[in-house]
Amino acid sequence: MTQDGAGGSRLMQVLHVIGSPKGEASASTRMAEAFLDQYCLENPHDSVTTLDVWSADLPEYDGELAAAKLAPLIGEPLTPTQIAAWDRVLAIVETFASHSKIVISTPMWNFALPYRLKHYIDLLVQPGVTFGLDDAFEHIGLLDDRPVQLILTRSSAFTDESPDDFQLSYLTHILGFIGLHDVKSLVFEGTTLPDDQREEFLTRACEQCRLAAAGF
Ligand SMILES: Cc1cc2nc3c(=O)[nH]c(=O)nc-3n(C[C@H](O)[C@H](O)[C@H](O)COP(=O)(O)O)c2cc1C
Repeated sequence: MTQDGAGGSRLMQVLHVIGSPKGEASASTRMAEAFLDQYCLENPHDSVTTLDVWSADLPEYDGELAAAKLAPLIGEPLTPTQIAAWDRVLAIVETFASHSKIVISTPMWNFALPYRLKHYIDLLVQPGVTFGLDDAFEHIGLLDDRPVQLILTRSSAFTDESPDDFQLSYLTHILGFIGLHDVKSLVFEGTTLPDDQREEFLTRACEQCRLAAAGF
């Protein structure tokens, strides 16, 4: 959602989704904060909201919610419990969709994502809400496209488009699936370093993030 500012410029609401549970010790969160600090300097009237998936109240994806997701596809009515669970899902999607730009910062965990970020994504990806079928029964994303910046960290180094990298490839795929194709990524590898090298590495990475903020 955007609104016109006094000078006719569009004010942006940025959502920062935090995927690391490490708080101030997190490399990916620190890099994203450098990116957003610079973004706010350059766009002082835009707003940034933070969604930490580790402290957010995310409904369990239990049997009721799984049934609620699929019931409309087979013409089944929802039970009152499923309606309540579904309402919570819709509120989560609405918060996400109401932001005009998205930043997702996350470490790689076991070649993919921390489970709490996957949980959040599982809540966002819903038939008839964020994806649907076109006349040819092909999947289409239902969200309006908007800029997404990924800020990703991992200990290991991967070659470009390595089949072992399920972090960048999954995020790019699932965001495209719900309609978000304007996705840029900053990927930082080799993040597990002794203390004396870590600070210098993080300082350089944060500088790269600040530079990238100009194009967001
Ligand atoms: C549970 C867990 C699993 C991890 N799995 C991988 C992995 O598969 N590949 C990799 O390169 N690094 C892996 N790492 C290392 C993190 O991706 C790396 O330390 C990252 O920079 C941490 O970012 P953060 O400080 O923002 O949490 C793992 C770390 C943890 C805690």
